[in-house]
Amino acid sequence: MAGPSRRAAQRARTLRGKLQRHAHLYYVCDAPEIEDAEYDRLFRELQDLEAAHPELATADSPTRRVGAPVEGGFPPAKHVQAMLSLANIMPPEEPKAFEEPHPELEAFFQRLDKQAGREGLLGLEFVAEPKFDGLAISLLYEDGVLMRAATRGDGVTGEDVTANVRTIHSVPLRLLGKAPPRLLEVRGEVYISRDGFRRLNEQAALTDAPGARKPFANPRNAAAGSLRQKDPKVTAERPLDIYCYAVGAMEDGPSVASQDAMLGLLRGWGFRVCDLAQVVTGGEGCFAYYLARCRERAELPYEIDGVVYKINDLALQRSLGQDARAPHWAVAHKFPAQKALAVLEDVGFQVGRTGVVTPVAHLSAVEVGGVMVRRATLHNIKFIDDKGLRIGDKVEVRRAGDVIPKIVRVESKAPSRRARRIRLPDACPVCGSKTQRDEDMLYCTGGLTCAAQVRSSLVHFVSRDAMDIEDMGKENIAWLVERGALRRVDDFYRLTEGQVRELLERKARMQRRKELARKLRLASRMVRDLRDGRSVAWPELVPALEITHFRDGGNMAWLAGSFDSPAEFLAAEPSAFDSLGITEKKEKDAAVKSAMQFVRDYPTVKILPQAIFVPWLKKVIPGVGDKAA
Ligand code: IVH
Repeated sequence: MAGPSRRAAQRARTLRGKLQRHAHLYYVCDAPEIEDAEYDRLFRELQDLEAAHPELATADSPTRRVGAPVEGGFPPAKHVQAMLSLANIMPPEEPKAFEEPHPELEAFFQRLDKQAGREGLLGLEFVAEPKFDGLAISLLYEDGVLMRAATRGDGVTGEDVTANVRTIHSVPLRLLGKAPPRLLEVRGEVYISRDGFRRLNEQAALTDAPGARKPFANPRNAAAGSLRQKDPKVTAERPLDIYCYAVGAMEDGPSVASQDAMLGLLRGWGFRVCDLAQVVTGGEGCFAYYLARCRERAELPYEIDGVVYKINDLALQRSLGQDARAPHWAVAHKFPAQKALAVLEDVGFQVGRTGVVTPVAHLSAVEVGGVMVRRATLHNIKFIDDKGLRIGDKVEVRRAGDVIPKIVRVESKAPSRRARRIRLPDACPVCGSKTQRDEDMLYCTGGLTCAAQVRSSLVHFVSRDAMDIEDMGKENIAWLVERGALRRVDDFYRLTEGQVRELLERKARMQRRKELARKLRLASRMVRDLRDGRSVAWPELVPALEITHFRDGGNMAWLAGSFDSPAEFLAAEPSAFDSLGITEKKEKDAAVKSAMQFVRDYPTVKILPQAIFVPWLKKVIPGVGDKAA
C-alpha cells in the first residue's frame, strides 16, 4: 500500500490536536464546546485514517487510550525522583475538640519555625489542599508525551500500570502548549468519585452471573482494584479520575518559585488540578482551611481524609529538606475518624424499587466526622435480629465510602426497663399493602400500586444500567410524577413536546447555575490573591480572563499552555492562534484583540485594589450580587 500522502498526515495531526483539545475541555475543564456526536465523528475519522495508514498512529493518539492486556505481572518501574510519604497530624479523639487548634499541629509549626529560623510563622505561606483518598501515581512525560505511569510501590520502585492509566481521559497523553520540559514527572492521586463508586457497586449487585464481582468496600479499594486490572478494557469501564498535585523530577522545564505557580503550570499543561488548592497564611490560615474542608467534606463529590499543607516557597522547601520517609516542608492533617456513638431512638422503614422494606435508624443527633447525623441505615431486618438490637441501645455509627451512615455495632444495651423491641411493620409504610417476610428480607406486596416502588422503578428504568435515557434524572422524574405526567414506565414514551422542552430548560438552568458558580470560584480566588497583595501569576490570570474575553475555560487553558508568559503572548504571530478552535475569523480576531488588550494591562491588574476590582467583576459577571463579588 502506498504511504500516507502529506495531506493525510496533516489531517491526522489536525484531528489529533482537535480531539486533544476537546477531550481536555470535556474531561478537565468540565466545559465541552462541541456535541458528543461531533467528537465521535472526528474520532472515527482519525480511526479510519490510522487504520488505512498505521504509521500515522502516534503513541499519543487519542485513539490509543485502550491498549492490549498485559502478560504476566506489572513490570517494575523505578521512579526518577523517589515518591515520598507524608507525616500525619491526627486530630484529638473527643468529638468537637478537633475544632480547637491541635497541639500536634502547633508542634509542626514550631519545628518549622526552628528549622526555617523565623520569628513566628506570621506571613509564611502554605498551599493547602485536600488529601484525596485514592492512590498515588507518577506520570512520566518525555518531550511532552506520556511514556509511563507507575504506582508508588516502596517509594523507589513502583509497578508499571501505563496501559491502565492511559484509559483515564483526564490524563493528558501529550502536554498542552509548545516547548514541554524534556522530562517531567507529575504526581497525583487516582480516585473514584462517590457517584462512580455507587454506580460500580450497583452494577456488581445487578450481575448475579457466576464469578460476578463482589461490591467494593470503599472508593479507594475500587480505584486500586480498577488500576491493577490485567486488561485495560476493564479499567476503561471504571470511572477513574485523577487530581495532580506535585512535580517530581523535571529537566529543561520552566523555572518556578512556588508550589502555587507549579500548580498553575500543571493546569496549563492540561492536568486536572483541584480547584480547592489554596494559598493560606500561617498556622491560622491552615487551621481555617482545615475546618472549612472538614465541614464541607460530606458534600464533596469525592472522598478526602484530611488536608495537606505544603510550604509555598520552593527554595524554602529545598532548604528544609526531607528524611527517608517524608519531606519536612509538608504535612497531612487528618480528619477525625468518621465514627461516633449515638442512641437508637426509633426505627423507620423505607421501600425500595423491588419492594424490599429496609429499616432506617433514627438516632439521637450526633456528629460523625464533622457532620450532624440523625439517620443511618440498618442494612436489613436480619441485622436487627443478629445484633439483638432494641430501641434505647447505644450504637456505633460510621460514615465511609458512601454518604449514607451505617450502624456497625451495639456499644451497650439499654437498661431493660427502657429498652423497646423493634416491631416490623405488617403493612407497607408507603401504600399500606400487606408486607411479607421471606427469610431475611421484608417485602411490600403492593407492586406497582406502591408509589415508592413506582418512583424507584422509574428512576431505574432511565438509568445507565437499563434504558440509559439522558437528561432524565431523579429530580426530573420526581417533578414529572408530581405533575401526574408519569405513573408507569411506558409514560416516558407519552411525554409531550412541551413537557420535554420544559425538562430540558430546567436542566439548562441548573447547568447555568453550576457554570456561574465555577466562574465565581475562579474570580474569588483572584480577588483573594489581589487583596492579600499577591501578584496573580500568568497561568492563573488566564483562566480568570474568561470573564471578559474568550468565553470558555478551554480556550483559556489553551492560551495559558501555549504561551509561557504575557510577553510571549503579546509577541505572537496571528497564525499562532490558528488552533484556537474559533472558526469565524471575525470572532477570532476580536477575541484575540481583546485578550491582548487585557494582557497589556496585566501589570496594572497586579495592583488593582479591591475597590476597583469588585465593581469590575460585577460588571463582567451579570447578575452577581455584592456579597458574592
Ligand atoms: S503530596 C512529598 N498532596 O497521601 C509530597 N499527597 O500520605 C507527597 N495524597 O502518597 C505527596 N492527597 O498518595 C500530596 N494533595 C495531596 C495528596 C497526597 C493525597 C496522598 C499521596 C501520598 C500520601 C501520603
